[in-house]
Amino acid sequence: MAEKRIVLDVLNGEAVFPPPIWMMRQAGRYLPEYRETRKKAGSFLDLCYNPDLAVEVTLQPIRRFGFDASILFSDILVVPHALGRDLRFEEGRGPLMTPIEAAEIGKLDGEGFHDHLAPVYETVRRLRGELPATTTLLGFCGAPWTVATYMIAGHGTPDQAPARLFGYRHPDKMRDLLGLLAEQSGEYLIRQIDAGADAVQIFDSWSGVLDEACFEEYCVRPVARIVEKVRAVHPNVPIIGFPKGAGALYGSYRARTGVTALGLDWSVPWSQARALQAEGAIQGNLDPLRLVAGGQALEEGVAAILRELGNGPLVFNLGHGITPEAPIAHVEKMIALVRGAGR
Ligand code: CP3
Repeated sequence: MAEKRIVLDVLNGEAVFPPPIWMMRQAGRYLPEYRETRKKAGSFLDLCYNPDLAVEVTLQPIRRFGFDASILFSDILVVPHALGRDLRFEEGRGPLMTPIEAAEIGKLDGEGFHDHLAPVYETVRRLRGELPATTTLLGFCGAPWTVATYMIAGHGTPDQAPARLFGYRHPDKMRDLLGLLAEQSGEYLIRQIDAGADAVQIFDSWSGVLDEACFEEYCVRPVARIVEKVRAVHPNVPIIGFPKGAGALYGSYRARTGVTALGLDWSVPWSQARALQAEGAIQGNLDPLRLVAGGQALEEGVAAILRELGNGPLVFNLGHGITPEAPIAHVEKMIALVRGAGR
C-alpha cells in the first residue's frame, strides 16, 4: 500500500486528529445523483445486484465529498434473499418479506448462496480498483438479530415485537435461525474481504429493544461467531460492531464479541463513550437530525464530539444513517468543521 488508509490506523487504535470521516448511508436519496441512478436501475434490489450501478452510487459520495471511507452499496437483507426468502422494497414502505414460519427455519440452507451474491463480490472487486488509494473500503453485513427481525415480521416495526415474541415462543428455532445467519454472514464477509474490502461493519440496528438475557443470546453470541469465523481467515482485518441502542449493554460488547471497533449511537453519554474508547476505537455519533437542522445544532453537535472524543481513536460518523431530508450544504459544513478542527 503506497499511501496510508487513515481509517484503518484509527480502527486499529491510533488517535488521529482531526479524525477521519464517513457517513452511514452516505450513498442515498439525499444525493440527486443517487436518485438519478436509482431511476435508471429500476428497483432498489436491481441496483444492489448490478455491479456497474452499485459501483457508481458507491463512488458518488466519495467524488462529491472525498470521505475517508467508502461503504459498499448493498443492503443487509440480500443475505436472507440469498437464502431463498422473497424480498422487495416498496417506495415509502421499506423492505417487505413473507414472514418466516418456525417450521421453515430447519429447511433454510446455504445452497446457491455465494452464486446469488456474486454481483456483490464483483462490486467490491471493482471498487477497490477504482477508489483512491487512501480511501478505506468497508464491506458490511447485518447482524443476525437485526436481519432476523425483518425475516420474522416481514417488514419494519417500531419495536420488533414479532421477533421478540417469536424468540420467547420458539427459543430453539430462534437459536437455529441466528446460528445459520451467523454462519452465512461470516462467509459473506470473508468473501467481501477476499474481493478487496479493507474492513467490515456489522449493523445491529435493533439491539436496543432486547433485555439483557436476549441481548446476550441474540446479539452478542451470533456476532462473536461471525467475528471468530472472519478472524480465522483474515486475522488482521478490522471489524466494526454497531449494536445501535445497546445503552449500558455497550459495556462488555467489544470484549465479548471480539469486534475491533465500536459504532456508537448519539444516546451514549460522553463518560461512557470515553470509557469505551479507552479500550479501542469508536465510531460515531452525531444525531442525524443535527445534520438536517444545520446551523447551531450542527455546529454544537460536531464540536461536542471533537471536544469529548477527539483525543482518542475516533472515526467521525453519524449515530445512524443520514436521512433523505439532510441538505447537501449541511453535509459540506459538517465535513469542513471536522477537517478544519484544531487549525
Ligand atoms: O451506508 C451505505 O451507504 C451503504 C448501503 C446501505 C443501505 N442499507 C442502502 C439502502 C447499508 C449499509 C444498509 C444497511 C441496512 N439496511 C440496515 C442497517 C443500518 C440501518 O439503517 O439501520 C437496515 C436495517 C437495512 C434494511 C433497510 N433497507 C430498510 C429498513 C430500508 C428502508 C428504509 C429507507 O431508508 O428507505 C432499506 C432501504 C435502503 N437501503 C435504502 C438505501 C440507500 C433506501 C431505498 C431507496 O433508495 O429506495
